[in-house]
Amino acid sequence: MISMNSDISEYLFSETQIQERIKQLAEKITNDYRSKNPVIISILKGGFVFMADLVRQIDLPVELDFMAISSYGSGTASSGVVKIKKDIDIDISGRDVIIVEDIVDSGLSLQYIRDYIGKHNPSSIRICVLLDKPAAHKLDVTFEYVGFNIGNEFVVGYGLDYNERYRNLPYIGILKKEIYS
Ligand code: IMP
Ligand code: MG
Repeated sequence: MISMNSDISEYLFSETQIQERIKQLAEKITNDYRSKNPVIISILKGGFVFMADLVRQIDLPVELDFMAISSYGSGTASSGVVKIKKDIDIDISGRDVIIVEDIVDSGLSLQYIRDYIGKHNPSSIRICVLLDKPAAHKLDVTFEYVGFNIGNEFVVGYGLDYNERYRNLPYIGILKKEIYS
């Protein structure tokens, strides 16, 4: 493991812990979708590392796509304003769709994405998130596959950023408060 970045106050999940949990999620998805070929849609940018590791553990003929939305700007609190910056390319009508997202805070982004994907007439939609902050939800949302529940701290690493930095940390850690306050 590389040395802890000096902007991180606490490790939450190591590379090994993340990989073990992803293996379990991937096994469950592989079993749940046996003899199907789902379309897995990752939400950029934060979801790209999770997507890459998750799909390589899924033993199914999956098709992959990406969406990019903006919801946060450069701060740490959800604006609730969601804008599509990159749309999906695959025709998902009649398909089984799995949405892959890095983290859920208020739940506003995923609610918007689920509704948006739903308008394309998929045969099913399920959501897989690596991290969930249940105490931060502003909507009554639930997800079929959740990696870890965490508290209301602001976390970075493993795809997650603060002002576009820290995405390349191989672990997930809590960002020191003085960095963003
Ligand atoms: P929501 O719409 O409030 O659920 O916000 C979800 C999005 O905000 C995620 O996809 C992340 O991009 C970002 N986000 C929420 N919490 C964190 C965090 O702790 N670290 C980094 N990004 C976060
Ligand atoms: Mg995100």
